[in-house]
Amino acid sequence: MPVTRNIYEIYKNEPLLQEATRVLRTNIQFASVDKPIQSIVITSVTPSEGKTINTIALGISMAVAGKRTLLVDMDCHRPMLGNKLKIRPKFNLKHILYDNMAISEVVVPTILKNLFFLDVEPQMKHLAEVISSNKFNSMVSKLNSEYDIVIIDTPPLGMLIEAALLANRADGTILVLKSGQNDTKEVLDVISQLEKANAHILGVVLNEIRVTPNKNGYYYYNKGEDKHVESRKKRFGRKNEHSDISKTKGMIDNVG
Ligand SMILES: Nc1ncnc2c1ncn2[C@@H]1O[C@H](COP(=O)(O)OP(=O)(O)OP(=O)(O)O)[C@@H](O)[C@H]1O
Ligand SMILES: [Mg+2]
Repeated sequence: MPVTRNIYEIYKNEPLLQEATRVLRTNIQFASVDKPIQSIVITSVTPSEGKTINTIALGISMAVAGKRTLLVDMDCHRPMLGNKLKIRPKFNLKHILYDNMAISEVVVPTILKNLFFLDVEPQMKHLAEVISSNKFNSMVSKLNSEYDIVIIDTPPLGMLIEAALLANRADGTILVLKSGQNDTKEVLDVISQLEKANAHILGVVLNEIRVTPNKNGYYYYNKGEDKHVESRKKRFGRKNEHSDISKTKGMIDNVG
């Protein structure tokens, strides 16, 4: 599967990704009885674990289910949401916060009904301070009142602090882990960072499990195919590691 393919096409043609994302969506809806989950932070331990693709898949799934959904790119170091959605908005978060532009002037629609996008300024300075500001807080409140669900793509928490700051303000956080990529200790460190930030951890998405159809058409998990050592060697490259993607279906194992 070439990585340049339109993200909506990928979603439409990947029944496993669709099904797994539906399960995730349902679990999120049931995750909080007292207060519905409205804002969700998506993060990971290391780069390239599948945060952005899972942000979009969850967004599509929510939008298709009739929820007015906003995808927010908060990874200013590697903003890829617009790229994958094939949208290049003229304005972004910086214009709301520094130029007092209205949210409605900055958020853009996507080709999918109910799915909207708010971009970030690439390499935005002092993002951690921005996230901690009152102005950012009031913007988040406004976004929550205007959209049913706000899904926030962030940089890996194992490397940068932004996701913990955002998780502190969001209703829930999802940790995306690429199968076979992380040490248990690294994962536990990130979970402990989230706990210290008082994040509500909704669950873990175990991404890129290798699955193969058996003779009955059911899929099974090929445990032995995870190449833990190889993927660890590559993991700080932030380059595309998925040339063999046709064998790698998206599977989400929510343990929330
Ligand atoms: N489940 C999946 N099915 C198909 N492709 C996937 C899957 N997960 C990840 N990919 C592909 O792997 C690459 C990395 O995924 P993605 O950009 O979502 O990771 P990321 O965690 O956001 O990376 P970064 O840390 O650089 O922001 C992308 O090319 C994406 O299309
Ligand atoms: Mg990303």
